[in-house]
Parts: sequence; C-alpha cells; structure tokens
Amino acid sequence: MNVEQIRNDFPILKTTMNRRRLVYLDNAATTQKPIQVVNEIKRFYYESNANIRRGVYPLSEEATEQYENTRERVSRFLNASKEEVVFTRNTTESINLVAYCFEKEVKKNDFILLTDMEHHSNIVPWYLIARKKGARLKKIPFDKNGFLDFDYAEKLIEEKPAFFSVTHASNVLGTVNNVEKLSKIARKNGVKILVDAAQSAPHIKINSRRINADFIAFSAHKMLGPLGVGVLYGRKELLNSMPPFMGGGEMIEDVSRNITFAEPPVKFEAGTPNVEGVVAFKKALDYLEKIGFENIEMHERKLLEIAFDGLREVKNIRIHGPADFRKRTGLISFSILGFHPHDLAYELSRKGIAVRAGHHCAQPLLEKLGENASTRASFYVYNTVEEVDFFVKELKAIVN
Ligand SMILES: Cc1ncc(COP(=O)(O)O)c(C=O)c1O
Repeated sequence: MNVEQIRNDFPILKTTMNRRRLVYLDNAATTQKPIQVVNEIKRFYYESNANIRRGVYPLSEEATEQYENTRERVSRFLNASKEEVVFTRNTTESINLVAYCFEKEVKKNDFILLTDMEHHSNIVPWYLIARKKGARLKKIPFDKNGFLDFDYAEKLIEEKPAFFSVTHASNVLGTVNNVEKLSKIARKNGVKILVDAAQSAPHIKINSRRINADFIAFSAHKMLGPLGVGVLYGRKELLNSMPPFMGGGEMIEDVSRNITFAEPPVKFEAGTPNVEGVVAFKKALDYLEKIGFENIEMHERKLLEIAFDGLREVKNIRIHGPADFRKRTGLISFSILGFHPHDLAYELSRKGIAVRAGHHCAQPLLEKLGENASTRASFYVYNTVEEVDFFVKELKAIVN
C-alpha cells in the first residue's frame, strides 16, 4: 500500500487550514474523496445526466443503467443480491426506514433492544417508535475495556425483543462488535436484527452472508464516496413483506383505482435519488477494493499503535475503548483531565490538524464513560505516520 501515491489522488490533502498544511483526522465523520470519485460526478453531469427510470430515450436509459450498475457493484461488495440493496440518503435514513416499517410489529410493553454504545441515529428512530407504541428501550452494557456483555445480550435476546439494532463498530470506542455472533443468537430466537455498519464498512470487509443479519446500514460518504448516498441491505423475503417507507414517484407499479407498489428495492426508493452520487459511489468501492481491506486494516493498526504509544505518555489522559488494536477500527478518542475537548480541538486546528470534539452524537455512551465529551482522531487510507507523529507532538505541546 503506497500511501504517498494514494495521497496524490486527494487534492484536498494539499491544501492548508489556518495557514498550516491540512492534517485531516476526522475521517469517522466523513472521509475525503479521491479524484476518481470527483471526476465521475463531473463526467455524469457532462455526459449522462437525465432522470432515471423515466425516459425511453437513450440518455435516460444510460443514466438508469449506470445507477443500477452501482447497485450491482454494492451487491458484489456485500456478497448479496441486487434486490437486497436499497439506496437511501445515509445510514440514518436506512435505520429510520427499517424502524418505520417494523412499527406495526411493536406492541405495548414490548421492548426494543439496543446497546449502550449506539450513535443517536440508532437510538432516536427506535425511541420515537417505542414512545408511540408504549414500548421501552433496553440496552446491552459494555465493560471497562469497551466490550459488550455477551451473556447479558443473550439473556435479553431470549426475552424476545420486538427488534434488535446494534452497531458493528463504535464511533467513540472504536470497538468492533462480534455481530456474527449476535446475529446468530437473534436469528435463533426469531428476533429481527439490524447492524449499523456506518463505522465498519469503511474499514472491514463486510460480508452480508457471513454476518447473517436481517439488515445492514451504512453511508457512502464515510468510505470515500459522495455525500447523500446511503445503503440499506435487507434480506429479500423481509424487503418483500415490508410496507413502503415513503410514498411518491417511481416506487409504484400502478396508481389508478388501487395503488400497487413496485418490487423491492425500488419500492423503497421514492422520488428522484442522488443519481450522480450513486453512480460515483461505484468508483469509491473500486478504489477501496483495489487497495484491499486487509491492507487498510493493517495500515490503520500501524497508525493506531503510534497514536496509542504517543498519547499514553500524556499526563492525566484517558483513552477510551479497547487497548487491543485487533478489536477496533482506526480511531482513538480520549479525555484529558483539566482540558475541554473543544479547547484541544481548537488548538490543534491552529496547527492545521482537524480532529473531532464533543459527544460525537453518542451522548448516552459518553455518560456511561462518565464524560461529557471527548476528543477523537480517526484515520484512513491517506493518513501517514508523519501526520500521526505530528498530531501527538502538537497535542503534547498544548497539554504541556
Ligand atoms: C455508528 C454510526 N452510526 C450512524 C451514523 C450516522 O451516519 P450518517 O450521518 O451518515 O447517517 C454515524 C455517523 O457518524 C455513526 O458513526
């Protein structure tokens, strides 16, 4: 994996921030985009722009074909079938879609099972349904090393929650959860399970058959793809039996006396989608698979190790999540006694370093850690050892 060569594909990495060279370490929020993706968006508008599924003229047919090519590409990426890939705007919309469609299955006094390490996107949609139906949310706790309590999880799943939704990787702890095992327990108990893969799909090879969940949700923008494109993988028989999420154009078969709906996945894609974004997402997947997920994991582990070694020397620091790099994705979040994360992020930004500070849309998780906020550096394929060294050095200087 040639990081210097990869960096040449990302023009933004040659820019400055606060008159210093940009060191972009906020990849868990969104990644930068390579020229291959940006050029594909431009190419689409220069050569192929038309609305999809509507025209009988060649330009529209071409746009439709390109859009559907990405669906085919995503299905290969996930080891799924094309009919199981729904395009949405983002992970948040994918989760809302499933929550909305399963609302009728949630009865009074039921509970919906989550974990203590969820992003707000995987809490609020379920909270809204629980509140409406007089149901409750129950959460699987994590231990001091940032790992879920599997015995407790099994016990709760056996109590038959109305739905189980769990993150594959935490955006604060970096923990990678054994979702294969959780899916197995859920499926054995007849409990529907959704895996939020927003923080795992960019770093780990996702295989829908191996995970064996009912649904998997993720966002293109966190894996070199365009903003405004999300994916929902759903098992075919479930998508077939689910009601539509939104009503509108394209998702219908016939609207005369009785409305009948199109087959999935189109049933869940009402209105004009982000066609150029979906088309260009294919280039992002090509780019990542060309590098190879094993190489991505190895590279991130190396950067994590350097960050860990450096940050451990900072006085009064508390690094959140597992100490074992093999059990986490490429992010490190920490709190330093006496320093507000916003101040740290602000001071780092004066050196050109972009990191995240705050509750990372995971307030209940931060509360469990006994913190209001943390500072988070998250790495990706184009980050270098020098950048991580620089980040550690500047952080130490600020703290000192
Ligand atoms: C674990 C997790 N789930 C869901 C989301 C929501 O993603 P999006 O804003 O793309 O919908 C995020 C975003 O950071 C996340 O980290």
